[in-house]
Amino acid sequence: MYELKKIDYSFDALEPVIDAKTVEIHHTKHHQNYMNKLNEILERNSLDTSKPLEELVLDVADLNDEDKVGFLFNIGGVINHDLYFKILKPGGSNEITGTLKEGIEKSFGSVDAFVSEFTKKASTLMGSGWVFLVINPNNELDIVSTNNQETPISSGFEPIMVIDVWEHAYYLKYQNLRPDYVNNFLNIINFDVVEKLYDEKIQKNI
Ligand SMILES: [Fe+2]
Repeated sequence: MYELKKIDYSFDALEPVIDAKTVEIHHTKHHQNYMNKLNEILERNSLDTSKPLEELVLDVADLNDEDKVGFLFNIGGVINHDLYFKILKPGGSNEITGTLKEGIEKSFGSVDAFVSEFTKKASTLMGSGWVFLVINPNNELDIVSTNNQETPISSGFEPIMVIDVWEHAYYLKYQNLRPDYVNNFLNIINFDVVEKLYDEKIQKNI
């Protein structure tokens, strides 16, 4: 079945923005648990498990009715966390440049306007969920949020950047101060990786 992708930095590499214990529990317990639960569901259903999870999630109609909700929750949990750990950078962010900067300016007016909207949405989302920078069906950049573990792929969006605002992502260090976590989080995003994803997906859509 599917295996959890490794994160390519140590648990303490995102200090001081995200503490080592949080990264360790987040990846080895929460992220792993979504993968385990997804594999349990796939064992009792007949889906084409040779495809990437980002494609498999669109096959929800092929599952047993009683497994559909659990499937979406757990596959979303894996996909969202894969992206989350992939776009973080030990040592701090690099600049938003190149095609990503151009796309952001086209869709939001300026990088500052984008950062402001993303920060606001992530700070104010009610309950547990995620806020994404996505490519929408018109091939423009957009910010969307989802609840629980839903992936925006199910709604036709292609996510290229994300923040996890479940309390398990920040509570040990930030407790109730989610806006502080959100503001600091923006300082450890690897915008080179985000730009690479943007370029790949835009090219694919042309
Ligand atoms: Fe999480």
